[in-house]
Amino acid sequence: MTEYGKDAPLSYNKYLKVPELIRLQETLSDPTSHDELLFIIIHQTYELWFKQILHEVDATGGWIDEGRMFRANHSLRAVVGIEKVLVTQIHILETMAQIGFLEFRDKLNPASGFQSMQFRELEFASGAKDEKILRFFEHDPFAHERLKRRFDAPSLADRFWSLLERGSFDVSSAEARVATIVEILTHPEKYPDLFNMQDLLIEHDENIALWRYHHVLMVERMLGMKRGTGGSEGANYLRTTLGKKFFPEIWEARTHLKV
Ligand code: HEM
Repeated sequence: MTEYGKDAPLSYNKYLKVPELIRLQETLSDPTSHDELLFIIIHQTYELWFKQILHEVDATGGWIDEGRMFRANHSLRAVVGIEKVLVTQIHILETMAQIGFLEFRDKLNPASGFQSMQFRELEFASGAKDEKILRFFEHDPFAHERLKRRFDAPSLADRFWSLLERGSFDVSSAEARVATIVEILTHPEKYPDLFNMQDLLIEHDENIALWRYHHVLMVERMLGMKRGTGGSEGANYLRTTLGKKFFPEIWEARTHLKV
């Protein structure tokens, strides 16, 4: 590897592959639009964080199955911590002038964030599985294979309900699941690990919802009601996704909680 020198000892650049990393931002505009670098870097940064979140979500699933609550909650805490950064990171895109974005936007057609494989993996792995989205990736074998695996595997929601079932809670229907969460919310000291887990799960759901909301506002601020490069109705389409929830019963339990 020439950039590190022959037989070079381990260094920061060598370990983190910085020369390779900073070659990965290939702009399409010609002459290069000033803001295209920011646009690429922010998307790549999101994808790296999605990778880390999926790593933690997978670990959480395994630890839930093994009943290792401390480790599971510890990884969930990492998930929600990263997500907080993802929500606020959208502000960086808002520094891009609308006219600067329009200089290179047409070059992106028909690519779109709609095709973010790892975002869909996160939705599926959390509990929001949608067969239409899986079919949408049929022409991309790499993404389709990953998504199909996640579609067929138990989600975080499935694993959480199985954990409760193993703990002799009734999770046989949506109502029973709501009543189980009400029991845990009513007696946090009796079920401290489960209380913390449902709290982290609802926070994960809330963070993704905040991201969706922040993203649609940024899109409207940038594009108004223009159509998306992926072909959707843009902000109008994105508004239809705002109600998605991974753990609806955990939310609903709050309505039924009484002292
Ligand atoms: C100027 C910046 C951005 C604009 C104008 C924009 C615009 C859009 C639009 C219009 C859609 C709807 C699908 C379509 O027709 O294309 C969409 C979907 C999406 N975008 Fe963005 N986006 C931007 C930045 C980002 C960033 C930084 C991410 C981070 C990964 C992202 C992730 C997504 C995802 C995951 C979807 C699918 C949402 C869903 O279907 O639930 N976008 N975006």
